[in-house]
Order: sequence, then C-alpha cells, then structure tokens
Amino acid sequence: MALHNIDHPLARTLISQLRDKDTTSEAFRAASYRITQLLVIEATRTLPTTRYRLLTPLEETEGHRIDLPITLVPIIRAGISMVEPTLGILPHATVGYIGLERDEETAIARSYYQKLPNQKGQKTFIIDPMLATGGSTLQTIDLCKENDATDITVISVISAPEGVSSVLDKHPDVNIFTAALDRELNVQKFILPGLGDFGDRLYNT
Ligand code: PRP
Ligand code: URA
Repeated sequence: MALHNIDHPLARTLISQLRDKDTTSEAFRAASYRITQLLVIEATRTLPTTRYRLLTPLEETEGHRIDLPITLVPIIRAGISMVEPTLGILPHATVGYIGLERDEETAIARSYYQKLPNQKGQKTFIIDPMLATGGSTLQTIDLCKENDATDITVISVISAPEGVSSVLDKHPDVNIFTAALDRELNVQKFILPGLGDFGDRLYNT
C-alpha cells in the first residue's frame, strides 16, 4: 500500500532525543515509549469500529468499540521495547514474537526464535524500531503470511529508503508507518543519520 511518515511536532522532538548520542539509556527508553504511542495512534486511525447502544447516566446513546482482533509481532530484541506502549493503546491485542539478529558482517538477519499465533482474520502490526535493509521485516512478513496474515502494517521509528523500497516492492499490500525517513544506509548497513544501534542504546550494551 504505502509509506506513512507521521509529521508531528512531538514526533520530531522525540526523534531528536533518540538520535542524540548523549541521550542516556533511561531517557532513550522514555522517548522510545512515547514515540511508539504516537506511531500506534496514527497507524490505527483507520481501524473500523462497531456501533452499539449504551446508557450514559442521563440517556441512551450510541457507542463505538474496536472489535477487530489484533496481533502484535515485535521483532526481538529492540522491538520488545514497543510492546508495552502498544498494549497501552491496544490492550486486547495478542502478541507473537520473532527473534532475529543481523550478522555484523553481512547485515543478514538470522532467525533464532518464533512463536506466532494464527493470524487469520486478524489485523497484524509488526513492530520494530529500525527498518534498515528491510531484511528483518521481510522475513517477518513472510512468516506472518505463512500464518495466514492478510492485513499487515509495519511500524518502525526510523526507516531507510532502501528498506522501505524492498518491503513495498515485495509486499505492495503492506502499510508502513514511520516517524522518520532517513537519507541512506552506510557500508555497514546502518541508517544515516539514524541513531546507531537501537538495541544497544536501549539496553546499554
Ligand atoms: C535491528 C533492528 C531491526 C534490524 C533492522 O536489530 O531492531 O530488527 O536491525 O535491520 P534490517 O532492516 O537491515 O534487517 P538487530 O539485528 O541489530 O538485533 P537486536 O534488536 O537484537 O539489537
Ligand atoms: N539496526 C539498528 O539498530 N540501527 C541501524 O541503523 C540499522 C539496523
């Protein structure tokens, strides 16, 4: 479908805190929590709601609720940081996990863990803060589709043009929500200007 680059003063402020090499892990985790919630609110803007009748203390009126089943798929390790803020907004979601780690030389992601529910009829949100080459996201989309997912949205904090193109070229049915579309990848396949290694900055490793 398309790339949605959210443009919001809060998102710009939080992205700047994440990029700053002097931001502590504690402040990095706080900014990452808040920017995830902004992204989730934008990414859920078009979710359908069911109407129902309810009683206020004064009279009967129409209510709305999100009935669509939702599966979150965080990519371990950095994606774990996005689970709690997302569940804060979508408390009824199911969570499946994918463990992937990029090889430091080749930047190709190796799969080491997978626990996914069946995603038939579910809206799936793949959550991972960095979309660089797109390799990790592509592997995750393939696994979700093998698990009957048909409605997939990717949420990433920072994306590189290379990763966005590789995902949308192979999966034109997928939506991507990001808070920053950066310039390019360097030779080590890190995003520029980027923020460095998200997992390392988050967990102070
Ligand atoms: C980072 C990031 C993504 C991946 C993006 O994880 O969280 O999963 O790299 O890169 P790609 O688009 O080129 O695949 P990493 O493999 O460093 O593992 P970590 O989360 O355990 O630090
Ligand atoms: N993973 C990260 O954490 N940062 C990058 O720039 C690319 C992949």
